[in-house]
Amino acid sequence: MAAQLIDGNALAKQIRAEVQGRTQALKARGVQPALAIILVGDDPASQVYTKHKVNDSTETGLAATLERYPATMTEADLLARIRQLNDDPAVHGILVQLPLPRHMDSHKVIETISPAKDVDGFHVASAGALMVGQPGYWPCTPYGCLKMLDSIGYDLKGKHAVVIGRSNIVGKPMALMLLGRDATVSICHSRTSDLKALTLQADVVVAAVGRRNVLTADMVKPGAVVIDVGMNRNDEGKLCGDVDFEGVRQVAGWITPVPGGVGPMTRAMLLVNTLTAAERSAG
Ligand code: GUN
Repeated sequence: MAAQLIDGNALAKQIRAEVQGRTQALKARGVQPALAIILVGDDPASQVYTKHKVNDSTETGLAATLERYPATMTEADLLARIRQLNDDPAVHGILVQLPLPRHMDSHKVIETISPAKDVDGFHVASAGALMVGQPGYWPCTPYGCLKMLDSIGYDLKGKHAVVIGRSNIVGKPMALMLLGRDATVSICHSRTSDLKALTLQADVVVAAVGRRNVLTADMVKPGAVVIDVGMNRNDEGKLCGDVDFEGVRQVAGWITPVPGGVGPMTRAMLLVNTLTAAERSAG
């Protein structure tokens, strides 16, 4: 029997409705949740992404501003602008779109954002908070994946979860979130010697590598849950994930599609983080 789909579009819609309700409650208390987005340079993909972030925000009642600066902006000027936003009580979330121009040190830029406003969850303080189980902001993509598992009522306790990919913004935080739910977690990566041996044991696989066909049907235990974080193009230029969807869906119990899976959830979780920042600041 083919796997059931976990519909990211439908779940994201539900989450946006929840955000909208909580935003209205906050507004009734005189607080307008606000997100400041900074885009430096004219990377075409970044322009699209930031436009989506603004539209998603305004549609759910959050105020969002997009500040655009030329690629020639100095790092010092960017850091000064971030510090101003840190000090502005009307701004609850700050997001600096990546990648930044090469003359800027992304790490330094991210570390300048106040952890209280780090709605991307990229600051080392956010990573540390996740690691030790303290309140903070979780990176939107793995947070969205966790919500997808929750949406099917999946109990991770004692399950074997295999995360393929070890990036700071997806693989590593994903592994920590799964561990926080009492899963037994393996993190696999390009140097893993026998990936298939591990994925065949997995009750849950999260594929977050950025390469097509990283996970094929012969690598999946029947009934496993497969979450596909990848965003790639196939030979026909069509959007596809890291998972061989058509093959794996014949074996898995649940699977997320690409598009319409993790992508919309990442966008929705940014709204959740921004709203949470506003709620925390309101006390
Ligand atoms: N560039 C691509 N994805 C992201 C994201 O989630 N946050 C930021 N800040 N930049 C990105």
